[in-house]
Amino acid sequence: MEKILVTGGAGFIGSHLVDRLVEEGYEVKVIDNLSSGSLENLKDHIERKEIEFIKGDLKNKEDCEKSVKDVEVIFHLAANPEVRLSTVRPEVHFNENVVATFNLLEAARSIGTVEKIVFASSSTVYGDAKEIPTPESHEMRPISIYGASKASCEALICAYAHLYGFKAVSLRLANIIGPRSGHGVIYDFIMKLKRNPKELEILGDGTQRKSYLYITDTIDAFIKVMKEFNKTYEVYNVGNKDWITVNEIAKIVVEEMGLKDVKFKYRLTTKDGRGWPGDVKYMLLSISKIERELRWRPKYSSKDAVRMTARALITKILKQ
Ligand SMILES: NC(=O)c1ccc[n+]([C@@H]2O[C@H](COP(=O)([O-])OP(=O)(O)OC[C@H]3O[C@@H](n4cnc5c(N)ncnc54)[C@H](O)[C@@H]3O)[C@@H](O)[C@H]2O)c1
Repeated sequence: MEKILVTGGAGFIGSHLVDRLVEEGYEVKVIDNLSSGSLENLKDHIERKEIEFIKGDLKNKEDCEKSVKDVEVIFHLAANPEVRLSTVRPEVHFNENVVATFNLLEAARSIGTVEKIVFASSSTVYGDAKEIPTPESHEMRPISIYGASKASCEALICAYAHLYGFKAVSLRLANIIGPRSGHGVIYDFIMKLKRNPKELEILGDGTQRKSYLYITDTIDAFIKVMKEFNKTYEVYNVGNKDWITVNEIAKIVVEEMGLKDVKFKYRLTTKDGRGWPGDVKYMLLSISKIERELRWRPKYSSKDAVRMTARALITKILKQ
């Protein structure tokens, strides 16, 4: 069985991926600096000694070297995922995403055992897409520093794959949601409504429309790519076939919290009603390529994913 490294494995997506890999019997190592992730997400695996956990930082070269030792597959998920923050603190995203990825690639190159790298990229690399659903062939014109950092990482990974003999894949993820997610619109709405159940502040005009993918569907895509991808380098969009507006999400969250007569208050920071400068207002990815080449397709719609996530997060957050 291959030895697998999950960077950012204590985070939302990473910990679900670790669950699945352990379940399938792989030997799993995790490196995480716990900046946004939590050991709570990996508690059972650590207690049962099912994984090796390294508390380390990819910005530190020695931590990278330690983490890649004897590893054949790397799932690279460690990053600062806050798109909104990236616009006010560009250097954080450059260091956490681009420098960290470069260090990891250098460590992988020098160790010589790594065969495959699967990278968690993002739909934000496209910016305001001219074509919707957006195919992988659409040009990359990111409008946030976060999106730019992901595009930079993709470019580095592509070059390393061609030069140093790895197989590598960049998965351009839509909005991924599910239990344990600690950021994003659903989490944000629940926290706000917990503080004030009479009024909900919505960033932007609420007409932003995007595609949301449930975590189990996402993990299915990661696992399929690990098992079946056999070329030097490819990019795949991973998202849903439908999309949903922020206003619809707000209504679902209100309903699931059992609230009535909640007043929606819109905070407008851009002329065209985006959530914040750098927010992509309309996002729907074409998933024909991954459907055709790897036979992956989502089981849950955006709406179902939002409702299931709202239910799971409400139960957890209201208990705190
Ligand atoms: N959640 C989404 O909707 C979404 C969409 C597109 C892409 N992505 C990407 O998927 C990945 C996982 O996202 P997530 O939502 O699970 O976020 P998350 O914050 O829950 O996970 C990121 C993990 O990386 C760790 N980390 C950050 N910087 C690190 C560093 N320098 N060294 C070691 N560990 C570090 C954090 O502690 C955290 O555990 C990220 O790369 C994110 O950009 C997420």
